[in-house]
Amino acid sequence: MDFNNFSVVKHPLIEHKLTIIRDKNTSKKEFKELVDEVAMLMAYEITKDFPLEEVEIETPMGMTKAKMVSGKKVALVPILRAGLGMVDGFLRLMPSARVGHIGLYRDHETLQPVSYYFKVPPNAEDRDFILIDPMLATGGSAIASADKLKSEGIKNIKFMCLIAAPEGVKAFCEAHPDIHVYAAGLDEKLNEMGYIVPGLGDAGDRLFGTK
Ligand code: PRP
Ligand code: URA
Repeated sequence: MDFNNFSVVKHPLIEHKLTIIRDKNTSKKEFKELVDEVAMLMAYEITKDFPLEEVEIETPMGMTKAKMVSGKKVALVPILRAGLGMVDGFLRLMPSARVGHIGLYRDHETLQPVSYYFKVPPNAEDRDFILIDPMLATGGSAIASADKLKSEGIKNIKFMCLIAAPEGVKAFCEAHPDIHVYAAGLDEKLNEMGYIVPGLGDAGDRLFGTK
């Protein structure tokens, strides 16, 4: 899709794993493991523009100058529930990242997001935020979450999802042109119930076995 702030993270391993995630015969255990692995692979791409600084260290052979990630501290913010499934994969690459939570669910009738929880790490203005949710469907949940983060004074935000629908990409990218959206897959459309087609079904239910 033609938005400067949207990209699909392309990698053969991501595509392969996403295919198994989509398969309705994939078990709950494997689904969770693969979502975790794809999140880790995506984290590699999403952090690729993080600034580096030179530090001096001593190896067993002597002193040298080398690079380390500098700049702001990172906060991951999964949108409950399904966003939780992508946190550990990211944390494996950046174990010091703090984790906030946004509690939202989509009303099944209206498809509007209903908010029930919000907690982010302190000194939020000084951090880089990565908002996480596997599904970008109508975009309502992600837009409301980004609105809330911004209302708390947070400016540096990226959004990461597994599967995006064109409708959600358009709505989100227009509402938040300053937030880059990273997806592992861009699907065809939403159905009349607001589910992504072909998608993967209900991400929360498949992660937590609630259906
Ligand atoms: C799912 C998903 C997103 C939202 C996407 O959550 O994890 O948060 O739907 O839909 P939208 O783009 O149309 O807002 P759901 O509301 O099913 O809650 P859950 O994670 O608690 O299952
Ligand atoms: N939420 C999901 O979990 N799946 C969809 O396809 C759309 C919204």
